[in-house]
Amino acid sequence: MPLNPSHTSWCLRTPGSCYVVAVEVDAQTGEATVLQKYWGPPLATDAARQVVGLTRGPSTPDGAGRHVTSFAEPVEIEELLPVTGGRRWGPAALEVSFGAVRSVELEFLSAKADDERLDLSLADRHFPLEVVLSFQIRPDGDVIERWVTIRNTALPDSDLSDITVTRFHSGSWFLPDADDYRYTGVVGAWAEEFQLRRGPLPVGELTYTSRQGITGHQSNPWIMIDAGTATETEGAVFGLALAWSGSWRLTATRRPEGGVAVAAGFGHEGLRWPLPAGAELVSPRMLGLYCEGGFGAASRAWHDYTRAFVLPASDEVRPVLYNSWEATGFTATAQGQLSLARTAAALGAELFVVDDGWFARRDDATSSLGDWWPHPERFPDGLGVLFEEIRALGMRVGLWVEPESVSPDSELYRAHPDWVLRMDHRRHDTKRDQLVLNFARPEVRDWALDWLSRLVAELGIDYLKWDVNRPFTQPGWPERSADQDLLWIDHTRNVYRVMDILRARRPALRIETCSGGGGRVDLGVLHHVDQAWPSDNTDAKDRQTAQHGFSQLYPAAVMGAWVTDSPNPNTQRDMPLRYRFHVAMAGVLGIGADIGRWTPEELTEARSLIDAYKQIRRTVQHGRQYRLGGIPGAERSAVQYILGDEVAVLVYNPLGNAKSGPRRLKLAGLDPDATYEVVAGGSATSVHGRLSHRSRWYGSVLMSAGVRPAAWEPIGADYRSDLVVLHRIPTP
Ligand code: GLA
Repeated sequence: MPLNPSHTSWCLRTPGSCYVVAVEVDAQTGEATVLQKYWGPPLATDAARQVVGLTRGPSTPDGAGRHVTSFAEPVEIEELLPVTGGRRWGPAALEVSFGAVRSVELEFLSAKADDERLDLSLADRHFPLEVVLSFQIRPDGDVIERWVTIRNTALPDSDLSDITVTRFHSGSWFLPDADDYRYTGVVGAWAEEFQLRRGPLPVGELTYTSRQGITGHQSNPWIMIDAGTATETEGAVFGLALAWSGSWRLTATRRPEGGVAVAAGFGHEGLRWPLPAGAELVSPRMLGLYCEGGFGAASRAWHDYTRAFVLPASDEVRPVLYNSWEATGFTATAQGQLSLARTAAALGAELFVVDDGWFARRDDATSSLGDWWPHPERFPDGLGVLFEEIRALGMRVGLWVEPESVSPDSELYRAHPDWVLRMDHRRHDTKRDQLVLNFARPEVRDWALDWLSRLVAELGIDYLKWDVNRPFTQPGWPERSADQDLLWIDHTRNVYRVMDILRARRPALRIETCSGGGGRVDLGVLHHVDQAWPSDNTDAKDRQTAQHGFSQLYPAAVMGAWVTDSPNPNTQRDMPLRYRFHVAMAGVLGIGADIGRWTPEELTEARSLIDAYKQIRRTVQHGRQYRLGGIPGAERSAVQYILGDEVAVLVYNPLGNAKSGPRRLKLAGLDPDATYEVVAGGSATSVHGRLSHRSRWYGSVLMSAGVRPAAWEPIGADYRSDLVVLHRIPTP
């Protein structure tokens, strides 16, 4: 990995990319900066050495070919961790004050490198601050992980030991010079998460952020940047993501005189983290991906990485679940749940999740969060008997919990009013009639771990839906006034920790992350959970849009997707059962409808669609995903998955009489010379060029000429869809 004998430049190699960094020391001042010298397609070692010599550091007036004046030092954009101070005016990635001194000047200490990891240690030239920049690559993937550790190395009685951190990003990534830049990201709101946005990257600073203490619905901590020419199937794309579930900030800076960088980290502006003597702070990981092959290939690279290095039990096939929320809301009863469970089991569901409303006096959203025992009237015999009966039906059991929240009207709050986020002399603002427990407090963390462990063990719970339904307000911790801002970090860390300990205590336990829908989905929480709930909006048309955005980074194996009732309770839109199923089959299929009211015909159709899903779910959840066709939910579109010889294609057409959108379905990622046979789905009648049942096609024809799926025929009803399964025919 080192590129020169003096160990001041390194090349991190992945199968499809190369990332070259160098430490440069200013000859006059002795200040060290770590610069990104190259990020792009693989380079031979000699080529990487040339790259290091091509550009000069910040001290050189003509550095990097940009126009340096007495007003600007544009090369700072190429720094991996621009610190506050010196000749820098861009957004700092590390902002520290040493008493009254608010500037960092680093010198280089040492480097440690092996085949997959690089650590560069630097230290302030005067104050006791050590900074370690860490890099990690993983076998077989192009995602590069970076993070930073800062330490106060003072002896406790030193008079230099006063250090406060006011901004601490996981790093900054320089985007190589291009003719132009375009960003891709997702934005949204409750019930409208993961809306894809793509547009020219403006000169200035584009910030995606959450100041809510959770990942948030408004944006998601990742961005992709391309030169404005990449498509779904072609072109170089750079992706950056932050693995963190609390407040965060991601800023893409495009300088007027050239140069783009993306920095991200936890926390947000205005926070103060004291770093006492001996203490250290480790940033979350920020991940970078260089990928050729367009946005589709970039997504597949993220999916592969998430399955291989993020998810805790990624090789499993996810069960078909039933969740009672939309059916019973706050009126769940033991009898009612059992009756739903019987129908769900008959349909083929494998996991039954009792949602909100099962505990204390929870008859609506105004009370009882914190009082985690069964509702005495609606579950008079507790949950044990019910769960045994559900298990006897052949299903696993799951339960909804919201451990970080408390209702003011609860025994917990009356006993421990001091456990919530709060500030002296300030209101306690409620949202959804609830307050936030300060999970950073060890006693709150231990309380949660205790009741959750007991609940999980006593009831043999297989699945927890872990929800959080409001952001932080009055985020204070009066007893810890000086370092109370650490709650922004420790709250999230303790959520992770409680999840991990629960899993360690019951290895069969699986967890779903939920935050009023998709408010806590990110590559941080996915280290600790198995699935995510992307949105409370279960309307299949809206869901297609959300799933399209979700799939840009996250694999289908984590994307919970329910079939719910028609008209949809959120949108009042009517939609055929088949279309609703086909949309939900693009992820981890669940049923969230009031199935007690379904007609015998609906139940029969649902049973066969669930069976069909079980045939393809390994391919959907573990295969490689290709987004085909037009704008999902708005025009003809399709999504395809390949695993081994099996190909599953979900084909959608929301508009019966559409003039626009693709007409021929072109598959992707197939072996051009192999023959594929349609083994399920496809139209019954064989017409020339029609994707019909048992028809056989060369991979090349399916990919280049394209075929006509029945659901895409120009005239027909709204909301036509199909699941087409093809098998590669073994060559004799
Ligand atoms: C949140 C979740 C829903 C449901 C309700 C229960 O909104 O996203 O799925 O669990 O809470 O109150």
